[in-house]
Amino acid sequence: MEFSKKLQQLPSQFFASLAQKVNTAIAEGRDIINLGQGNPDQPTPSHIIEALQEAAENPLTHKYPPFRGITELREAAAAFYMREYGVTIDPQTEVAIVGGTKIGLVELPLAIMNPGDMMLLPDPGYPDYLSGVALADVQFATMPLLPENKFLPDYDALSEDIKEQAKLLYINYPNNPTGAIATYDFFKETVAFAKKHHIAVAHDFAYGAIGFDGKKPISFLQVEGAKDVGIEFYTLSKTFNMAGWRVGFAVGNAKMIEAIQLLQDHLFCSLFPAVQHAAAHALSTEQNAVEQLRATYESRRNVLVEEAAKIGWQVKAPAGSFFAWLPVPQNYTSEQFTDLLLNKADVAVANGKGFGEFGEGYVRVGLLVSEERLREAMQRIAALGIFHK
Ligand SMILES: Cc1ncc(COP(=O)(O)O)c(C=O)c1O
Repeated sequence: MEFSKKLQQLPSQFFASLAQKVNTAIAEGRDIINLGQGNPDQPTPSHIIEALQEAAENPLTHKYPPFRGITELREAAAAFYMREYGVTIDPQTEVAIVGGTKIGLVELPLAIMNPGDMMLLPDPGYPDYLSGVALADVQFATMPLLPENKFLPDYDALSEDIKEQAKLLYINYPNNPTGAIATYDFFKETVAFAKKHHIAVAHDFAYGAIGFDGKKPISFLQVEGAKDVGIEFYTLSKTFNMAGWRVGFAVGNAKMIEAIQLLQDHLFCSLFPAVQHAAAHALSTEQNAVEQLRATYESRRNVLVEEAAKIGWQVKAPAGSFFAWLPVPQNYTSEQFTDLLLNKADVAVANGKGFGEFGEGYVRVGLLVSEERLREAMQRIAALGIFHK
């Protein structure tokens, strides 16, 4: 039996080989400091776990859920957007519940594009966007995220051809992997660009809760007219350390939401209702744990940046997300530097090239270990003698 052509055209998982190298090193008994992954290291707050336990005791949650999720969660998502961003969302028509936003991001091209259509993706960017490209059999053009543009795409730099062909645009701020945040003006420009060229927009707001230096990341939907052109994906994975629970939602443009719902009617039967009840609870109750988590990441970021400076590694502090995007030293490619750190310092980082061509020259470091481990990682890197004060 052969796999379908569609499966054969799926992109290979760039980071699978890193994970394998790290696992091999750990199996050899080496003490690897793993800064390569994006998995939150803290547990889900206990009040959310209790809400799950309570809901799971109720036999009603053992039945099939409604296809489009429980009303309570759709209402909680809408109320969350009003409370956090002042954005009005209709829980009936403007919310789609997804089993993790990865699913939503991968299924959207399938829901609103035809084979051969063109989409615009950031480079560097979250690699899973390419899975949606392959499954929907669409083409894509990249928008380079450059340090001189504060890692925001420059729409003017796209060719007229590409602008005319594009049907869907993905953006993501706070950004994985660069740690950049978006400005209100940039989102305004995005809405104008999308309207002018009839492009649908999906803003991936996975790191929406994680902004530093007193700046709360803004929602794309806060900009006037955003709902006319697009949606935003919000995940509970990062905000509430619920990555394993697989729950998120899309909010915004009713037509795009309906397209996602329709596709999902055929693919899924929504999520375990107890998870949905717990997710509604997480969105609706006190957010102290979220603030604590944000402060933890900020403090780790400060340690990383200070320790890097001490060893002579000049790095820019990320403004949000739980990643830092660090330049590799001269005379190394990202891959060579990644391999060197793993083989000689027992420190795993993600090769920037895995996020796209414009990731060359960088490595991504996750702020997902303790401050002590971050300090130790920097000391191990200093001992290589590559950086000079
Ligand atoms: C930029 C970005 N978008 C989306 C996701 C997917 O998150 P989830 O599927 O857990 O909602 C991730 C996860 O790492 C991410 O980094």
